[in-house]
Amino acid sequence: MSAWWREDVIYQIYPRSFADSDGDGLGDLPGATSRLGYLRDLGVDAVWLSPFYTSPQADAGYDVADYRNVDPRFGTLADFDALMARASELGLRVIVDLVPNHCSDEHAWFQAALAAGPGSPERSRFYFRDGQGPDGSLPPNNWMSVFGGPAWTRVVGPDGPEQWYLHLFDSKQPDWDWTYPDVRTEFESVLRFWLDKGVAGFRVDVAHGLVKKAGLPDHPGEQHTLAGVSAEPDDAAEPLPTNHSPYWDQDGVHEIYRSWRAVLDTYSAPQRILCAEAWVTPPERMAHYLRPDEMHQAFAFDFLECHWDAVQLREAITADTAAMAQIGASCTWVLSNHDVVRHASRLGLDQGLPRPHGITADDPQPDHILGLRRARSATMAMLALPGAAYLYQGEELGLPEHTSLPAEVRQDPAFHRTGGVETGRDGCRVPLPWAADAPACGFSPTGASWLPQPEHWAEYAVDAQLGVAGSTLELYRQLLRLRRAHRLGAGSLEWDDSYAVESVLAWRNGDLHVLVNLGAEPVSVPAGHRVAASSAPLTADGRVPLDTAVWSVAD
Ligand code: BGC
Repeated sequence: MSAWWREDVIYQIYPRSFADSDGDGLGDLPGATSRLGYLRDLGVDAVWLSPFYTSPQADAGYDVADYRNVDPRFGTLADFDALMARASELGLRVIVDLVPNHCSDEHAWFQAALAAGPGSPERSRFYFRDGQGPDGSLPPNNWMSVFGGPAWTRVVGPDGPEQWYLHLFDSKQPDWDWTYPDVRTEFESVLRFWLDKGVAGFRVDVAHGLVKKAGLPDHPGEQHTLAGVSAEPDDAAEPLPTNHSPYWDQDGVHEIYRSWRAVLDTYSAPQRILCAEAWVTPPERMAHYLRPDEMHQAFAFDFLECHWDAVQLREAITADTAAMAQIGASCTWVLSNHDVVRHASRLGLDQGLPRPHGITADDPQPDHILGLRRARSATMAMLALPGAAYLYQGEELGLPEHTSLPAEVRQDPAFHRTGGVETGRDGCRVPLPWAADAPACGFSPTGASWLPQPEHWAEYAVDAQLGVAGSTLELYRQLLRLRRAHRLGAGSLEWDDSYAVESVLAWRNGDLHVLVNLGAEPVSVPAGHRVAASSAPLTADGRVPLDTAVWSVAD
């Protein structure tokens, strides 16, 4: 059976911002279905759909109230089936999001737990605990929510304040207690529900969070509760292993993934997969998730987190590749997603500063031209690495972050839980521009858009780039064609040390040579090579200038 997950390019559809068919300003499944042909023509192999399940949308759908249904805002189960049918016609695999760390406080089981009261079996499915202090008015421990504030909220029942419940994210996202057998059985049934519908696998949300250290001890030392999910410092010289925290990367998670793998392996054609969203360091710990009887993919976030620095990038690529090779797994690369500042903007910021988790009009602004130039090079690096790669919707258009969203339109719970101290992730979630001259740039038929699109969005529209030589969209289409023709995802990486390692990344992957110049001095492609793709024009004498990437092959 083909190991497609080792080399596929998978496109992340963030449904609320991809395409809106009914004009309410929120994207939906029929909208996504109508645009699948565009993705086939782009040249991707598969799509990953962020959550579209029944949800009050307290965290844009990562707060699931019913794991087996579609939220009416996004459509119906029949719309999902239609999407699957169209994807299959086009030869695209479909991966869906699974959110097993927490549900919505509107999930029937959480509502039942609230009603059943302390000590009930219903409460055992979650982390309900008595508070500390004589009247229980202090949280059970010192854990902080990733979105800011305490990770505990006190229940107020008919007789007044009573127990507290744990939520590593928003208070509307209670954590499941995975030590309770019901929770395990329930999720295995959820897996089967979507597998039976033909999904090729699951991107597993917060895969490193499901198991908490027994006894729920206090977190030792400082907790970094920045918006986003790493909750770890960006710039620590020697970051502590993630499992120093009592709620991340506990060894017990692996038993859960082994049981899921057993479920997945009863399906075939295609092989169904699990992809871990696990912000775990060091890479050797990350590799545990990819042991032969566990998951298939795990995002290499340390690559995404690199500054635009040849040494850092090479170290991250080397460390990930080595850690995965040890256990016979492959790497899964990504540069942008719905939780991080888009790489076309991130790389246009001062690279000496820590990576921000969002940008407001009052923050230092990215240099858009520089950012896009580097982003195109970074993408060329990523797509030439062996392993799978995930693209985030809109990066193929070179979309920047929205850096001036007003506070009143922001929806990220991290923004609201921190009183705006954390900007949050809305800036990378702005609806896509499809048509330069249409209302909301073609996102919705009425011009409605749940977040306002920035000025100049029209210049990034699909129809403004399609067929235009040199556009970012045409670059992505070319790269994906070449990647497929050369089977780069299934290839291997051999560093070419004939260039200055402090400023140039160079390697061979099969017959393709990759050069990414991060230094001021232009460099030459190997003698006898012809340029197959380049992220920017070369110098007059055919050399590769600053912040430019080139793929070349022997003539
Ligand atoms: C998702 C985020 C979400 C968080 C809580 C993350 O890993 O990607 O968007 O806010 O999990 O579910």
